[in-house]
Amino acid sequence: MSSLGKTVVSKPAFGRAGVKKMRATFGLSKPDLISIQDLTPSEIEGLLELTGLVKTYPNEFARALDGKQIVLIFEKPSLRTRLTFEVGVRSLGGSSLFVDQRGARIDEREALSDVAHNLERWVDGIVLRTFAHDTVTGMAEHAGIPVINGLSDLEHPCQALADYFTIREKFGDVRKVKLAYVGDGNNVAHSLMLTAAALGSHIAVATPLGFEPNSDIVDVACELAMQTGAKVEVGTDVLSAVTGANAVYTDVWASMGQENEVDMRKSVFSPYQVNDKLMKAARKDAIFMHCLPAHRGDEVTDNVIDSPQSVVFDQAENRLHVQKAIMLLLMGNGGFAPQA
Ligand code: CP
Ligand code: NVA
Repeated sequence: MSSLGKTVVSKPAFGRAGVKKMRATFGLSKPDLISIQDLTPSEIEGLLELTGLVKTYPNEFARALDGKQIVLIFEKPSLRTRLTFEVGVRSLGGSSLFVDQRGARIDEREALSDVAHNLERWVDGIVLRTFAHDTVTGMAEHAGIPVINGLSDLEHPCQALADYFTIREKFGDVRKVKLAYVGDGNNVAHSLMLTAAALGSHIAVATPLGFEPNSDIVDVACELAMQTGAKVEVGTDVLSAVTGANAVYTDVWASMGQENEVDMRKSVFSPYQVNDKLMKAARKDAIFMHCLPAHRGDEVTDNVIDSPQSVVFDQAENRLHVQKAIMLLLMGNGGFAPQA
């Protein structure tokens, strides 16, 4: 496997030998993907490598989920996560079921463990979008089938993996990249920090006082950074975070579930808006990133999100490819059967 450079696009050996080799190369040690912390640095590197293969040779993976049924249960709204998982499952030969769980929390009607023990009898994998992170970890603990976190209040691992795949596509070696994340120290910020730390990259996070990232996540990211040579900076100074950055990233100021704080947050966060003036502090060739949905005119101006520097739709596309790679590794039929 190459290191953190651009995706290797030489066609891999498919068929039985290829399956064995790919499993040996990319196999994951944990059965679920709940947090970026579930992956070792080399597993993340392998996953990004496999994502490149899936993106380049989609037909070679068209039967990898043959006969598999994946259920998506979402307590919150979604465009990208729902559709990229549903399209991804189908393009791997499987089928998906969507459960709109917005009316009540998953464990409101019956114990989470009972839900888990039902699901494991019917389907082959679960994608969850929840408020409480414990709901995702609890489901993984009780269900004997793979569970993927499609966003919780604490983390959004699929997003961060797609984002670092996008950064790698744009710049090659992510170890030479400085990403400035400005805004709320939220789920997306947490997963980005953990991914940057694992990959030996540089991340500078700037948030208003009182909206810092979770201190346990900061500690884990800093510890990991000491092993990988990454640089993790957390502060309040937006200009110093963005200065010299290759990528400037922001997310909504009020996440799903914080709708009643929108007005309060608007006034606190306004100095953190990504606009033309702030982008000028970054490198000339800097890209603008956002997980979407964006609140145009709040955390980012139209000018920036619609500029040639913006890669937001590349990020959205790459959600599909990276999640296909994740499902191949966690739920695949021996993984990599070529098309008949
Ligand atoms: N970025 C993201 O997860 O988008 P959705 O909320 O639309 O799924
Ligand atoms: N932080 C945002 C991300 C949406 C994809 C939220 O949780 O609503």
